[in-house]
Formats: sequence, structure tokens, C-alpha cells
Amino acid sequence: MPQTIDWSRELASLDGRLVAADQATIPATDEGLLRGDGVFEVVRVYRGRPFALADHLVRLEHSARNLRLGVPIDRLGLERRIAELLERRDPAGFDGALRIVVTRGGHEIVLTEPIEQHPPSIRLALVVYAPTRILDGVKSLSYAANMLAGRIARERGFDEALLVTPHGRILEAPTASFFWVDEQGLLCTPPLDDHILASITRDRLLRLFEVSERHCTRADLATAREAFLASTTREVQPVACVEEQRFAAPGPITREAQAKLTRLIADELAA
Ligand SMILES: Cc1ncc(COP(=O)(O)O)c(C=O)c1O
Repeated sequence: MPQTIDWSRELASLDGRLVAADQATIPATDEGLLRGDGVFEVVRVYRGRPFALADHLVRLEHSARNLRLGVPIDRLGLERRIAELLERRDPAGFDGALRIVVTRGGHEIVLTEPIEQHPPSIRLALVVYAPTRILDGVKSLSYAANMLAGRIARERGFDEALLVTPHGRILEAPTASFFWVDEQGLLCTPPLDDHILASITRDRLLRLFEVSERHCTRADLATAREAFLASTTREVQPVACVEEQRFAAPGPITREAQAKLTRLIADELAA
């Protein structure tokens, strides 16, 4: 179950003003709220240091441009406001996440959030989903379909959804990329031209491993040896099953991916 956030402890930067997160308000007329017309990012923060912040801000900028949001993304200003927010939230080093939101109404919101505790492995249900092509290259606020997919999976007794097109192509989870190990032992992940998100964690794993970017069908899944999800907040999360098909969780390559990603994160934060 998604955890309920105790917002009273969290802080927000709202249009550059620091406020308690549960006191941060924007007008109800903002189209970001009324139509999900806006962009966002979630950044992991380790002991006060945001991981891959530059990549997240570049993706935020691309999202805003592709969406024709009409609101400039002030990257340098955002970096400054994030540093101040993190220092105020916990001078000893905040461990958690940052949510950055820019709305069509022109509001910039940065929230600190506790990190959701993900279980050591996850059980996935296939949920049919057709990507909205017009939103390619946009991490938009319109996430209701992704959230619904997760609820449908949980209604069926699983933990999370694995999105599959009506034509049988396996894509990603609602908030994570999907990797599998094929029968030859090669690590594979669906290509970005399957209209999935250009995940920053996926990008890091592609730097660390030889990865085959190829379409994933149900037949590929049937012969897979291992599978895992990858995202900013999950890092590498072993998949215990997809529907009735079980995997070792973690299998050897998944374990290696966990270890290598942990090392890469530590190295980048230390640089
Ligand atoms: C649809 C989707 N795919 C993949 C991811 C993983 O992306 P990242 O590694 O940048 O967190 C996310 C993250 O929220 C997502 O929403």
C-alpha cells in the first residue's frame, strides 16, 4: 500500500517562499490541478545530497518545452532554492525525496517527502495500457492512468502493475522502468521508442551493464530468468512474479545491478 505522508513535518518552497508543506497552497483555478497540465520530477536525496539533480532538471525543462507549458524553468534558481530547502529541512542531512512541480498556472512547488519503504521484492500483475503518444518526452502531472493501473493490480491481489499494450508489448511499471534477464543471461529492457519514460535510473544501468534495448513480449517474459524494476525511489527492486510466473528475487544479475547501482550512486554523490 502507498504510505500516507505526514506533511506536517515536511517543507515546501512555493514560488521561492519556504513554508510548511501542509500550508503550501495554490489557486484552485490552476490548470495544473484542473487538468493535470504541468510537469514534475522526483529526486532522491541521500544525507542532504540530491542524486542526479542536473539530469532531473534537464528532463523537467524538456518536459515543459515538449508540453508547450509556457512557463520558464529557472534551473539555476531551482538549484539554489533546493539547496536552501534541504538545509532548512534537516541541517544534519535530509534523507528522502524532493518533488518538483511546475504548473500551467505558473507555480513552482518543491516539496520534501519521506522516502517510501519499498519491500525487498514485488509481485506484478499485467495491466493493459496504451501510452498517450502526444505525451512522449513529457513527465506530466497527468498520472491518473498510472495510478489507476496500480490500483487495478492491487485489486487483483498483486503489489503493482506491469503495463502491457493491447498488442502485448510489455512497457514499464506505472512509476518504474522494467528490466528482464533473457534465457541467454543477457540483461534487457524495452526501448524508449515504446513510448516509455526516459528514466534516469534506466540510463545509469545502461552505463553499468551491457543491456539489450528490445521489445518485450509475453513470450520473452515466459522465458525470462529474472526481472526487476528500476527507479529513483526503488533503485533496483527484484520482481518476485509477473502474474503466475515466478522469479528468483533477487537473481544473480539483479543482485549485481543492485550492488553496482549503489556504488555508482555513492561515487556520484562523492564526486
Ligand atoms: C512511468 C515511469 N517510468 C519510469 C520511471 C523511473 O524513472 P526514474 O528512474 O527517472 O525515476 C518513472 C519515475 O517516476 C515513471 O513515472
